[in-house]
Amino acid sequence: MSGNLIYLDNAATSFPKPREVLKKMLKTYVRSGVSPGRGSYDLADEAAELVYQTRRKLTRFFSASDPERVIFTANATDALNIALQGLLRPGDHVVSTRLEHNSVLRPLYHLEKQGMIEYDLVCFDDSGYICPQQIMKAVKHNTKLVVVSHASNVLGTVQPAKEIARLCSEHGIPLLLDAAQSAGHIPIDMHSWGIGALAFTGHKALLGPTGIGGLILSPGLDIRTTRFGGTGIESRSLIHTQSFPHRLEAGTLNLAGILGLSASLDYLEQKNYEHLWQREMALTQRLYDGLRSISKVVFLSPPPTKQSVPVLTCAMKDMDSGDVGDILDGDYGIAVRIGLHCAPLVHVDLGTDASGAIRFSPGPFNTDKDIDFAVAAMAEIAAHS
Ligand SMILES: Cc1ncc(COP(=O)(O)O)c(C=O)c1O
Repeated sequence: MSGNLIYLDNAATSFPKPREVLKKMLKTYVRSGVSPGRGSYDLADEAAELVYQTRRKLTRFFSASDPERVIFTANATDALNIALQGLLRPGDHVVSTRLEHNSVLRPLYHLEKQGMIEYDLVCFDDSGYICPQQIMKAVKHNTKLVVVSHASNVLGTVQPAKEIARLCSEHGIPLLLDAAQSAGHIPIDMHSWGIGALAFTGHKALLGPTGIGGLILSPGLDIRTTRFGGTGIESRSLIHTQSFPHRLEAGTLNLAGILGLSASLDYLEQKNYEHLWQREMALTQRLYDGLRSISKVVFLSPPPTKQSVPVLTCAMKDMDSGDVGDILDGDYGIAVRIGLHCAPLVHVDLGTDASGAIRFSPGPFNTDKDIDFAVAAMAEIAAHS
């Protein structure tokens, strides 16, 4: 940890990054940090090969079908925007959920306000899960896309993506899965689950740097270009290159970010990321057990289960979450995320939209001691409120 800070905000971004990842990223960037695929010299080819290797690693990691359909983006928000704007056409209907992050809610709202689409949002149940059948009930004759957040960044609940994808496939509707909170925690099998498109971000549980993410598309999915520019090929034409991945990538790629992501994928493989998840879930359970003994703590998250990511959100009775966050930071050196977590509808439905809530999200470098200290801090805050 940095200084005495106890960092429990890994759902915002994982911190610190593994040293091995940063070292490897720097070493490769120092050696090959030129514009990938744009030059006639060997080093440009080498950089392009490193980019391609990362596409291949991502294809394996998410059991996707084709490295050419791995599109590098700035983050999950960018990937979701590219997908929503490129897949939807005037008159289309979309089914999504009230668990979504603003990175889905805002693009959908924007497209609706432009008069282009309409959408319906399915409610989550008392435990924070989406029932796949409810999604299907919301499907209409013109539904062209289902968008679901795989893991809720407020509740930590992991949605039954495989079952949702199966039902979507039966109806011939692609599922766009927002894996911002699940990628790196929960294994995702794009091909066998039948996921149409997957949006991920590199800087959370994938343990890479900020500024890199991706959109992975299933083989048959047609998508329009919404950003235009240089691709390093077919430069004479004013029409943006239509072959993948260039169709959706315009401009020089974030090579440093891609190399960082490549190194973090190696790290996750070497450490076995499911073991990391198990460890982080044990910390989340310890936190839950500790906070449960404080009568003023009210949980928004259900108890951690095998269908959860290491995210635990609660409120303190009669206190604003911002005040709790300030005390945790100022008096105890504990970093958490307070407020609405960019997922306002979850808070509306749980009645915490006025006061917000406090989100704890342990990461791979937290210890039992960090958790016990956080529980003790919350107990003192409760006692003095
Ligand atoms: C569920 C979910 N979707 C999307 C995002 C957006 O990720 P990014 O900020 O990396 O684009 C987040 C970020 O917190 C998230 O939690």
